[in-house]
Amino acid sequence: MIADRSENRRLSQPLIPGVVHVPYPYCYRCSLAQSYPSCGLACIEYIQYVLDTVAHPDEVAAIFFEPIQQVAGIIPPPQEYTPQLSKLAKMNGILLVDDEVASGFGRTGIMFGIEHWGVDPDIMFLGKAFANGISMAGIVARKEIMEKESEFPVVRGGTFIGNPIACVAANATINEIIDNRLTENSALVGLYLKNRLIELAEDFQLIGDVRGKGLMIGIELVKDQDKKSPAAEEASLVVEEALRRGLLISTIGTYGQTLRITPPLILTREQADISVEIIQDSLKAVEKKT
Ligand SMILES: Cc1ncc(COP(=O)(O)O)c(C=O)c1O
Repeated sequence: MIADRSENRRLSQPLIPGVVHVPYPYCYRCSLAQSYPSCGLACIEYIQYVLDTVAHPDEVAAIFFEPIQQVAGIIPPPQEYTPQLSKLAKMNGILLVDDEVASGFGRTGIMFGIEHWGVDPDIMFLGKAFANGISMAGIVARKEIMEKESEFPVVRGGTFIGNPIACVAANATINEIIDNRLTENSALVGLYLKNRLIELAEDFQLIGDVRGKGLMIGIELVKDQDKKSPAAEEASLVVEEALRRGLLISTIGTYGQTLRITPPLILTREQADISVEIIQDSLKAVEKKT
């Protein structure tokens, strides 16, 4: 989450030492200059190379990853990536830590993003939608990992720790998601919305890629379809035009070139249609301006 833009890190130093970042499988812009699927998942091989060269597995506590990157630009990995990552972590005796802060609680059409790949992580981070707006975060880990804590008695304290109101809100939120089958709605309406946006892409040179799962969808804008030059200014203008027409979206991605579509999980098809119309009109307005 903090590795998508050096801009965000530059004034926050020093950060925790001993952390090695590796490329995420961002197939639309592969940083290893490969193409999927002919790459054979070079990004997984690269992690093994890092373990063989600069970060010995004995000294690596964990691999932290988002099952679908959000702030970096709504990037779902290719199908085999997450199972391969899990295998690599296990083979090297390294814990797999799944950051579900953005992708958890139905956002991607399933309760937790990692479930799309049937992989069990060792540790999960939870936050954001956990209590639907009331501050709440959590770490879930295997029993044997949690039990290890007692061997390292550290004081876990904090002003807001164990807040009963937040816990009640979290329980209510989880029940609401389950009782109203909001993960299913996220999957169905999300797929419908993504398909409509993919259709829309045919009419706009500005749209380079439409991707996502459930109601976590990204539209990456480019100035040129072949060179894929990021269209950051255009993306900001689309956000402004959409807001003027009553639709709240935002920009994300390393260059700010991707539109983030993450509506409430109760979105209906009719509302999805209205959103597509607004995005279409906003893109037309920006094409005229630029
Ligand atoms: C994937 C991911 N992990 C962690 C965080 C940090 O969460 P918090 O703001 O609850 O510390 C964020 C925040 O945007 C995030 O998107």
